[in-house]
Amino acid sequence: MGGKETLIVANHKSSGLTTSIEEWARQVSAVEHGQNITVIVCPDFTLLERFASLLAGSGIKVGAQDISPFEKGAYTGEVNGEQIKRVADYVVIGHSERRTYFAETDKVLEQKVAMANKYGLIPIFCVQNGETPVPKGVGIVAYEPVFAIGSGTPDTPENANATAKKIKEENGGVENVLYGGSVNGDNVGGFLQMSDIGGVLVGGASLDPQKFIAIIKNA
Ligand code: PGA
Repeated sequence: MGGKETLIVANHKSSGLTTSIEEWARQVSAVEHGQNITVIVCPDFTLLERFASLLAGSGIKVGAQDISPFEKGAYTGEVNGEQIKRVADYVVIGHSERRTYFAETDKVLEQKVAMANKYGLIPIFCVQNGETPVPKGVGIVAYEPVFAIGSGTPDTPENANATAKKIKEENGGVENVLYGGSVNGDNVGGFLQMSDIGGVLVGGASLDPQKFIAIIKNA
């Protein structure tokens, strides 16, 4: 991988882990990996603080799966950037599940990115194809074609790389493009050896610490 930074991001979604939280954190934080690899875990909001404290000092970073488009105030159910920043460094924005099931629009996603940046959170902005608009202020994009999410059928490394290249060419501030969609320990290497892919966003295979560790080890 040379000197380029590789991000391995666990997206736990609203799913359950296969082990206790303590066990997941213990096993994953015990893995040795190259210095150019950054591991980030994105649990649900109720567990952010717990993961942050279990992983303190391990080098593993914590991220939220979403952020309010608003400042603090009367927005029942929302968690704002100022609150998230107390416990996390990253935030996933624009996942296709948010767009599909929660009707999130390009406009609202732009506001979320602005809030993340205002409070010093690093957005990991998900796009579904090379045409998805990327708001200003995004440095990390995750290319996640909908057909590949949770299906067991990933995109090809070649197509993912071509899409990553296009995203970088067309969006000036984007420095890193991750691939997401049915990533596992067996296929991760194929994606990461591509010139324009700088990491992976992992859903299903991140729920089991051993499966996630296989991804980190093969990165
Ligand atoms: P998957 O999900 O790894 O289960 O396909 C990826 C994602 O939606 O972030």
